[in-house]
Amino acid sequence: MSLSRSDFDQYMVPNYAPAAFVPVRGAGSRVWDQEGREYIDLAGGIAVNSLGHCHPALVKALTEQGNTLWHVSNVFTNEPALALAEQLVAATFAERVFFCNSGAEANEAALKLARRAAIEQHGERKHKVLSAWNSFHGRTFFTVCVGGQAKYSDGFGPRPAGIEHFDYNDLDSLARLIDDDTAAVIIEPIQGESGVLPASREFLLGARELCDKHGAYLIFDEVQTGVGRTGHLYAYMDYGVVPDILSSAKGLGGGFPIGAMLTTAELAKHLAVGTHGTTYGGNALACAVAGAAIRTINTPEVLGGVCRQHDRVIAGLAALNARHDVFGEVRGKGLLIGAELKAEYAGQAREILAQAALQGLMVLMAGPNVIRLAPSLVIEDADLDEGLARLERAIAAFLAARG
Ligand SMILES: Cc1ncc(COP(=O)(O)O)c(C=O)c1O
Repeated sequence: MSLSRSDFDQYMVPNYAPAAFVPVRGAGSRVWDQEGREYIDLAGGIAVNSLGHCHPALVKALTEQGNTLWHVSNVFTNEPALALAEQLVAATFAERVFFCNSGAEANEAALKLARRAAIEQHGERKHKVLSAWNSFHGRTFFTVCVGGQAKYSDGFGPRPAGIEHFDYNDLDSLARLIDDDTAAVIIEPIQGESGVLPASREFLLGARELCDKHGAYLIFDEVQTGVGRTGHLYAYMDYGVVPDILSSAKGLGGGFPIGAMLTTAELAKHLAVGTHGTTYGGNALACAVAGAAIRTINTPEVLGGVCRQHDRVIAGLAALNARHDVFGEVRGKGLLIGAELKAEYAGQAREILAQAALQGLMVLMAGPNVIRLAPSLVIEDADLDEGLARLERAIAAFLAARG
């Protein structure tokens, strides 16, 4: 095939700036491009490929379902959707599940449910949504406005009203905004896109108490932290703070698009027939793959492995840093790890990513100052070590290029 990276600029809307190489094949934590060059994948499709590339359990689920039934819409239900909902209910606080196709849609559903439930019970005034500055909840217009990052929400005309922002991890700041007109508080247990910043337990506990006091719903956006990423099926389990609504996507399908909103039976009643929906939600292929993903991930072996590999990454980054002194703080949980560049290298994460690609490594940034790692939850020791070795070579090249 003669297609190449330049065809992206020729044919596609220029809202992305993909890397210079074009991946064509993946297996586990390795990927190959059109030229046959091999890469170690520590990016995981932005915390999506929870079981790496072409994991046999997911390939089996996809091909079996692909030969059985693909799609029927929500005019009918289907067995993979019912089975996945049953699995999620059995494994979490939730009693009811709504399926969709992405993280933004899961948050859109969560926010609409919270407002609907609040307004039905207390009237129109109770519609305020509180979210942290610099959070990221997706790119629909409602979710970017909730996100509190002007660079994503400005320039699209009038915003939806009734959204206010507090400082992340600052309970006083939340306490100053929340009142009896608040419908929902939405929080990422770890702010992913804006730098891999974990919430403190005190903050989440305090947010739970404030929500209870004011009759507001607590939404955890676990799109990035969910499905084993932190070494727990969902991060709320580690924090010991239970939300009223939880959004999940990314790793849920291990690379097949799916999102889910989880909630209680009491709250779910407010999304009555006709109030919300999406054609593809609960698609049989997506649900079959996600069912296999959860079955594989929600085991002591895989979740324990995430914690073990966390320690390996932290030790590897510490050793790298001892030799090159580029990172200030290294933080995160499980296999969602951010390494913040020291002040003198601020704003240069993108340059390191470019060097990494040249060294055969796929990594992420989380804002301009943080290198983010979100590899497969079942990455092999050898792949991880080789990935960290390539990261070290990329950093050495970055430093050498600066002179
Ligand atoms: C915490 C969080 N919420 C929501 C989203 C949006 O998910 P999607 O891109 O699938 O719409 C993301 C994506 O990065 C995310 O990290």
